[in-house]
Formats: sequence, C-alpha cells, structure tokens
Amino acid sequence: MKHLKSLVVFAAILAGACGQTSSGGIAVKDVAVTRALFASQQCAVCHGPEGKGGVGANLTTGMPMQRSLEQIEAQIKNGSGVMPAFKDKLSEEQIQELAKFVYKEIQKR
Ligand code: HEC
Repeated sequence: MKHLKSLVVFAAILAGACGQTSSGGIAVKDVAVTRALFASQQCAVCHGPEGKGGVGANLTTGMPMQRSLEQIEAQIKNGSGVMPAFKDKLSEEQIQELAKFVYKEIQKR
C-alpha cells in the first residue's frame, strides 16, 4: 500500500511539472505583424512563407520540431551555417515574437 501511495504522489508531481511546461502560455502578441516581420526579414525567403523550407531548413518536420522555444530564440539571435544572426538587426522583443511565431503558428505546437 505504501508503495502505491508514493506512486500516486509521483504521478501528481509529474502532472504538475507537465502543466508548467505546456505551451498554453505561449501566444504571439500580433500574428499579422510578426508574419510580416517573418517575410520582411527574409526568414520566408529561406524557410518559405509557411516555414516548409527552401534554401533553409523545413521548420515543420524532424529536429526543428524537437526544439524548445528557447532554442528557437537562440537560433534566430545567433544564426548558424548559412543562416545569419538577427541579434543586431532586431530587438529582443521582435526575436521573442518571431520565436513564438515559429513555435505556435508555423509548427502549431
Ligand atoms: C539565408 C537563409 C536563411 C535566412 C534568411 C533565415 N534562415 Fe533560418 N535557417 C537557415 C538554415 C540553412 C538553417 C539550418 C541551420 C544550419 O544549417 O545550421 C536554419 C535554421 C533555422 C531554425 C532552426 C531549425 C532547427 O534545426 O531547429 C529556425 C528556428 C530558423 N532557422 C528560423 C528563422 C527565422 C525566424 C528567420 C528570420 C528571422 C530565419 N530563420 C532566417 C536559413 C535561413
């Protein structure tokens, strides 16, 4: 019985932890503005208007879908490979909104 009780407690803790990391709180402030930014900053040139790729990676399948919001934000800030860094071109807030846009609107997570 004791064992069962600790299992229940463990499950409750797990459920609580999951609740915290769910994407429920992530929302793009203004989807239209951020979509325009995605186009004007050439994200769309490389990744396609829907993020399905072109020159750049398809953001809607494979590894990109495993990234956390923080990792997406870091990628936009620092770039990698042929992708340029945007930390000197965009404000912190614009980068955060773009990361959320990729996460919520493009990847539908
Ligand atoms: C010059 C083309 C180019 C532009 C412009 C560009 N990207 Fe990328 N992006 C890439 C390539 C190529 C990769 C794959 C990274 C690598 O090869 O290291 C990538 C990777 C990414 C990833 C990570 C994918 C993963 O593996 O998890 C995200 C997210 C992303 N880009 C978003 C953006 C956003 C948002 C913008 C606009 C602010 C943007 N990119 C602009 C070419 C581009």
